[in-house]
Parts: sequence; C-alpha cells; structure tokens
Amino acid sequence: MTTESRQRKAAPTWLHEDEPPSPDWAEQVRALAAERDAVILAHNYQLPAIQDVAHHVGDSLALSRIAATVPHREIMFCGVHFMAETAKILSPDKRVLIPDAAAGCSLADTITADQLRAWKAEHPGAVVVAYINTTAEVKAESDVCCTSSNAADVVAAVPADTPILFLPDRHLGAHVSRVTGRQMHLWPGQCHVHEEIGGEVLAQAIADDPSADVLVHPECACATSALEMAASGAIPAEKIRIVSTSGMVDEARRAGTSRVLVATEVGMLHQLRRVNADVRFDPVDPWAVCPYMKMITPTKLLTALREGRDEVHVDPEVAARARGAVERMIALGSTTQGSTSQGSTTQGPGTPGAPGPGAG
Ligand code: 13P
Ligand code: SF4
Repeated sequence: MTTESRQRKAAPTWLHEDEPPSPDWAEQVRALAAERDAVILAHNYQLPAIQDVAHHVGDSLALSRIAATVPHREIMFCGVHFMAETAKILSPDKRVLIPDAAAGCSLADTITADQLRAWKAEHPGAVVVAYINTTAEVKAESDVCCTSSNAADVVAAVPADTPILFLPDRHLGAHVSRVTGRQMHLWPGQCHVHEEIGGEVLAQAIADDPSADVLVHPECACATSALEMAASGAIPAEKIRIVSTSGMVDEARRAGTSRVLVATEVGMLHQLRRVNADVRFDPVDPWAVCPYMKMITPTKLLTALREGRDEVHVDPEVAARARGAVERMIALGSTTQGSTSQGSTTQGPGTPGAPGPGAG
C-alpha cells in the first residue's frame, strides 16, 4: 500500500474497543485478579486501558522473565497466543489464561514445525535461533529462542564457526546480522503490521519533520532504509535508533528532543508518553495496528477473569522440549541496557493509571 493510500484509509476502528464497560471496571478487574490469585501481564502493544490495569507491562522478554518467577497461581496474559504459550512452557504448574485464545500472530504463522524440520535437514549441524514469535512446536525444534531485546546477544553467543538458522523474521534477522557481523540463513517470514512500515513511509515522516528523533522496531520493513538514510546523511545517524519495544521505553526516558517519531505498532505510544510527558511521540504510520493484540479488550478481560478462561494448554512433551530453548534465551542478554535492554513497567499502587493494590 502506498503512503498516499494509507493516508486516505479510514481511521482504525478498534479505538472504541478501549472504552471500559463501566466506571469501576479497573477496580473489578483488580479485585477479581486478587480473588483468583492471578497476575495480569500486558504487552506494550495492548490497548491503553489494558496496559493501565495490568500488574506488569513490558516486551516479550521482560514478560517471559516475570512469568517464570511470579508466585501467583494464575497468569492472565494480555498479549498474543505465543506469549501466553511461552508463559505456560516456563510455568507448567500454573494456569495460564488469555482473554481471547484466537489472538494469534501473522509472523508466528509463517513457519511450522514440519517446515523447520525440513530446513534443519538441509543444514545439518546448524544452530537454530528462533524468535519468540513462534509456536510451541517450533520452539521445541529450536536450540535457543530470542526476542528483539536480546537477539544480538543470543546470536553472538553461538560459536563463530557454527552456521545459524535464524527464524522466522527476515527483517530482525538482517538487523542482527548487521549488528553482530554474523552471516546467517534467514527464514523469509515477516509480520504483516511491521511489513507495511516501509522505507517510503519512513522517508515521508522524516521529510515532514527532519528535526524529530526516530525509533524503529527491527521487525519493520524500513529498518534497512533507516540505516541507509543515516549512512547517506539524509538524517543524522544519532537521530535514529533501531530498538525493541523496551529499548524504546529506555530511549523515551532519556529523550532530549521535543518530538520523536515511532515506527512500530501504535500501542507502544502509550508507554512512551507515560514515561516522558515532555516529549511529543507520534507514529510513523498511524495505521500500524496489530489486529491480534487489539482482540484483547477491557470487556473480554473482565469476562476472562470472571469465568477463568481461555486456558492455554501446551502438550507436556512439546513444552519439555521447548523449555530448554526458552530458558537459554532468558539466561542470555539479561543485563544489557538501551537498545538491547529488557524491562517492564511494573505498576503498583500509586502508579499513575494503576487502580490500586492487587495480585502484583
Ligand atoms: P517485542 O519483543 O519488542 O516485545 O516485540 C514483540 C512483537 O510481537 C513485535 O511485533
Ligand atoms: Fe505478531 Fe506482528 Fe502482531 Fe507482533 S505486531 S504480535 S509480530 S502480528
């Protein structure tokens, strides 16, 4: 889709879904969570109301770490299915719930376990590095997982002479190759939301305001053109950062400019605006909306807590094989900051937008 046709497109219709069904919705959610001994985790792309009511908000890596250590009986995962599955893999004895089990991921759907087995057979001896945006079956066939926060650390930890199969995101793979200097075999997958944020869209946004800083998620199709623009001098190199969603939060905290353009899913803007109210954060593409993330609505969250659903199940044998890859990911790249950092916004009593004490 061209820049012009995206600009003509009607505004996203999901915005009304953010409206809580009643004024005391947040109190009800927190009370039900406490009753169930459930912790509510929310990804950075969730609707603002969901982020505000959650006990923890973060990127895939931070939420995986929290899921692995929380003492609660239940985890209510407000994100997409592979994230809830990862929590179940790490905490097989807990009940893991998601407000809508149909919340999938177009990127995770680009590779199946059968396809991975066939790819491995073509490259015997290669190490398989799987982005966390994969099904449990694909993780079970992988050696180590990674997220956009720690992908470079994970790849750098693979012995230099060992071939690497990196899957499924080709843009993240290309970015990690550049950062680490490692040649890798890349699976040709992409996320349909980030694929739309191409070089043309980014160039237009920069041309409209050359003074703004720019944050780009490595899943974006424009990640390569962003670096090319910096290399050609079209934009000063220090104005562009290619970072994970938590890396964006770190950058927002220390932003010393008046405006920042953000190339990723629009849910991210909520946390950025929350951590730095002095800066204006605008989306590079206001229609970059993940339809799966937006399937988790305030009404569905309340119903899910009332009814104890949708429970996420992972075959125990598959989970046992996947656990090694996920645990290796959690152990790696844990202390880095900035563009490779991980983190979560832990919301406790008194935090703006957090409605009082609960299970967290
Ligand atoms: P993060 O790993 O940065 O949280 O991103 C997950 C994701 O699904 C991006 O589209
Ligand atoms: Fe998957 Fe893309 Fe949605 Fe992330 S934004 S959950 S990669 S479909």
